[in-house]
Amino acid sequence: MLILLDTANIEYIRKGIEYYPIDGVTTNPSIISKENKDFLPLLKEIRKIIGKDKALHIQALGTNAEDIIEEALYINDKIGGNLYVKIPVINEGIKAMKILSDKNIKITATAVFTPLQALMAAKSGASFVAPYVNRLDNISGNGIKVVSDISKLFKIHNLDTKILAASFKNVEQVYNASLVGSHAATVPFNLIEDMLYHPLTNKSVDKFIDDWENIYGKNKKIN
Ligand code: E4P
Repeated sequence: MLILLDTANIEYIRKGIEYYPIDGVTTNPSIISKENKDFLPLLKEIRKIIGKDKALHIQALGTNAEDIIEEALYINDKIGGNLYVKIPVINEGIKAMKILSDKNIKITATAVFTPLQALMAAKSGASFVAPYVNRLDNISGNGIKVVSDISKLFKIHNLDTKILAASFKNVEQVYNASLVGSHAATVPFNLIEDMLYHPLTNKSVDKFIDDWENIYGKNKKIN
């Protein structure tokens, strides 16, 4: 399963790449705006930090197919590497996906809230579909059920498109998405840390050190 960082924050991306098994980075216009930096230099810096092989998913802003296609080609040309253009599953987005996939531009269909939206995107050439788990949960929907149904649908119909589950607010959602067959999860930096955290792990490490130091003293190392 792929784990991606859902942020455009340089500090988080640097730390994420240094410490954790991160497969790539996802952004959207809201995530980019939080950084209050120029779009292209910021994305180029992210590409430099993660290298050309890790996936970078960048969203187009346009709401008509022509603009989406123009932006997608621009992003692909300027940023390059293992790049996915995120396109929302609106009518114009689906039209753009069909045209762009014919030009071998890799696409992540985004703002997915139903299995049928995912099916339409998959049939239009999307490599990934991104169902928004927490936004569904927030309105008393069931984000994990949508991820699970997409997974079943893709299996039944032998579709190669992968699921990149998104919009997570807690580790339980990430865990459940991985259990129901999501191929990838994009998570904010704090959740990456929370995925590792357990008080018993920390307590165990403290006890190992205490026991060792009681016998061998504070500065005695193994080697
Ligand atoms: C993926 O990149 C999505 O745009 C993102 O996960 C949405 O997250 P949010 O619902 O927390 O804004």
